[in-house]
Amino acid sequence: MSFRLQPPSPAVPNRCQLFGPASRTALFEKMAASAADVINLDLEDSVAPSDKDSARANAIQAINDIDWGQKTLSIRINGLDTPWWYRDVVDILEQSGDRLDRIMIPKVGCAGDIYAVDALVTAIERAKGRTRPLRFEVIIESAAGIAHVEEIAAASPRMEAMSLGAADFAASMGMATTGIGGTQENYYMLHAGQKHWSDPWHWAQAAIVAACRTHGVLPVDGPFGDFSDDEGFRAQALRSATLGMVGKWAIHPKQIALANEVFTPTEAAIADARAILEAMEAAKARGEGATTYKGKLIDIASMKQAEVIVKQADLIAGM
Ligand code: COA
Ligand code: MG
Repeated sequence: MSFRLQPPSPAVPNRCQLFGPASRTALFEKMAASAADVINLDLEDSVAPSDKDSARANAIQAINDIDWGQKTLSIRINGLDTPWWYRDVVDILEQSGDRLDRIMIPKVGCAGDIYAVDALVTAIERAKGRTRPLRFEVIIESAAGIAHVEEIAAASPRMEAMSLGAADFAASMGMATTGIGGTQENYYMLHAGQKHWSDPWHWAQAAIVAACRTHGVLPVDGPFGDFSDDEGFRAQALRSATLGMVGKWAIHPKQIALANEVFTPTEAAIADARAILEAMEAAKARGEGATTYKGKLIDIASMKQAEVIVKQADLIAGM
């Protein structure tokens, strides 16, 4: 282990982030009643330019009036390249109570983007005497965002989560696809005349997970556009979970149960993890650093792997 220890991740359930346009007020109560851990009211790309002001007012009213229960409540503001973002931050912080947990900053490209929003948020919090510091989540969805992913993860103590936004990312990278996440028809290896599909999102996900884990931020997989394709969503989410991501967005209520299922450790996985910890405790008591479990090597590193699963299970059980 490096002399500098890896910080713990925020102990916040984040298996599913449900999005809805802040221009569709009829969705708000349904979102609040859903099984998503995080609610994201959107002011950005699902809201037409002509609706930006009314959507912002809707979001403020929703923060103040709707019972969001134990959910993490987040508003996605407009990007720093638009004329709307500063008014999003100012109006939301000046006009809403302290129920809001996070704002989501889209299309971040460098640590300076976070610095700018942090400076504005900090000034408003002081001016208004807000005592509960707002947390930040960001979307990595551009070439600059992925190139500067580590400095972005480290940019502010407010940083809590970071998502991969597949569609804008693909556009910024010039990728030859219109798909939002998942398998891409032309991304395959050929072996003995057979096509084997590979994962074009893999490296960006892995880069995000590494940056997040280095700086104590939650790595999250973003949207999967085809909400009629349950198995496609599940396959993408399972890959993300295997890589270290803690959750995934839902852009339709159909996707909530799928995300919760994939990002909740199964009873079998939890039992296995606990058994590994017990077997290692017994080995340590015998003065051994390694032993066998179900015919396979386990050692101190296996304990750390098992602890990831047990910690996640305990976090969810404690909700
Ligand atoms: N949150 C909560 N409930 C939702 C919902 C959401 N995001 N989207 C749809 N619903 C509800 C509908 O109101 C409907 O409820 P009902 O059975 O009580 O009538 C039910 O779920 C089925 O909805 P459906 O008719 O299949 O969808 P739709 O045509 O109303 O909307 C979308 C489809 C994709 C436009 C809509 O889901 C949506 O806006 N998603 C979020 C988009 C977004 O925020 N994008 C930004 C992040 S990428
Ligand atoms: Mg986007």
